[in-house]
Amino acid sequence: ANHQTDNRMYTGKKVLVSAGPTREKIDPVRFFTNRSSGKMGFALAEAAANMGADVTLVAGPGNLETSNKNIQRINVTTAAEMYDEMLSHYGESDIVIKAAAVADYRPKETFTEKKKKQSDDWKIEMERTKDILQALGDKKENQFLVGFAAETSRPLESGKEKLQKKNLDAIVVNNVAADGAGFSGDTNVVTYVNKHNRTEELELASKQDIAGNILNFIAQDLKGESS
Ligand code: CTP
Ligand code: CA
Repeated sequence: ANHQTDNRMYTGKKVLVSAGPTREKIDPVRFFTNRSSGKMGFALAEAAANMGADVTLVAGPGNLETSNKNIQRINVTTAAEMYDEMLSHYGESDIVIKAAAVADYRPKETFTEKKKKQSDDWKIEMERTKDILQALGDKKENQFLVGFAAETSRPLESGKEKLQKKNLDAIVVNNVAADGAGFSGDTNVVTYVNKHNRTEELELASKQDIAGNILNFIAQDLKGESS
């Protein structure tokens, strides 16, 4: 793949990546989460570090590990914790990639004691979490901001709507309904779209290869902006 030809193209760049799911607590033994493995975000962090970047990786819960010395890893559990870490590292970042699958809702109340089974049903009231990517887009200065979109229908249209609404520079549209695509596997099928409507479709490939290609597209877009 051509992402190996100029493998130090991120030297001197600060890259902030979020990866993985979040967990929203119900009681001491239960939580809500989603199927994200974190593999796409970790692959992006590794690839950027290998291309010379100074990477901060804000990671939700999972089993993945990284030993790259150019990656500073910060572990978080909830959407609210991820929000705080992403916002606090935003100002110093050149490129921000929000690959994490953030919970949209969390339980309105959490129980300090384990909930016992008493009644026949149990309704849990949920409230919205803050949209981290929207907050980053609203506060954007010189950062190149990249979002992800997980879609099961009209992927490209929905992705482009998110790009505009969240003031992004590019979005990686993840068609989670396609064969070989999605959250927990080692492969993915994505389309990169930038704010000028540059559209790059990537065929089924490993998350490592896709990460390299995405970083190539970003580097090209950054070059285009400065020339
Ligand atoms: N995102 C975020 N904070 C949230 C929810 C989503 O930062 N509370 C980010 C994700 O990390 C991703 C992008 O927004 O980069 C799109 O996530 P997605 O779930 O596809 O879209 P939503 O905006 O949450 O809309 P919906 O789930 O209703 O399609
Ligand atoms: Ca969502």
